Amino acid sequence: MESPTIPLISRRNALIVSAATATAAAVSSPTPAVAAPASSAPPAGPSPRMKLSLNVNGTAHPLELDTRTTLLDALREHLHLSGTKKGCDHGQCGACTVIVDGRRINSCLTLAVMHDGAQVTTIEGLGTPQNMHPLQAAFVKHDGYQCGYCTPGQICSAVGVIDEVKRGVPSHVSADLTARPILSAEELRERMSGNICRCGAYSNIVEAITEVAGSRA
Ligand code: FES
Ligand code: FES
Repeated sequence: MESPTIPLISRRNALIVSAATATAAAVSSPTPAVAAPASSAPPAGPSPRMKLSLNVNGTAHPLELDTRTTLLDALREHLHLSGTKKGCDHGQCGACTVIVDGRRINSCLTLAVMHDGAQVTTIEGLGTPQNMHPLQAAFVKHDGYQCGYCTPGQICSAVGVIDEVKRGVPSHVSADLTARPILSAEELRERMSGNICRCGAYSNIVEAITEVAGSRA
């Protein structure tokens, strides 16, 4: 019985044929429909506004704000408290740290309308040049700054750190989650790690906070 004839084809020819086939298929296939990108434009019409009251540094401030206003912008642009700094505006540098109802937060990451009736403390509320908060005095004593841009956030954050330690809140580096934490240099660096200093005044910042925490924690 005669066996069927199998055409011989070289590997090179096979590649040429398959490439030509793929090209022809691509040319002849209909262009797929491209979905129109979703519009990122805000909806037309007036911006939504809301009345609220912020108690900042002991003074009540009635406000009516665009609901998209961050707490940072409410403080700086509407209440003209420019001590709180805008660094990254993305929660990455800590320059905007303030104390809200006793807890330190990044004011660029939260909307003002979420804090109706809250007690807010900014650097202006901690002390004055004539009557400095102990942390402010310690930063001066230990040269805990150079340009000073990060300093209000560092000091507000340090107030929060000292309070957290007093309340026994553990951190990522606490060895014993049930024991009252000791504010070691390692604990301090971890707890202050969200506050960036572009001038690199870290060692002096640690000394300043340690001095105050040592006498208060
Ligand atoms: Fe808020 Fe940088 S400005 S974290
Ligand atoms: Fe300049 Fe910290 S003192 S960024």
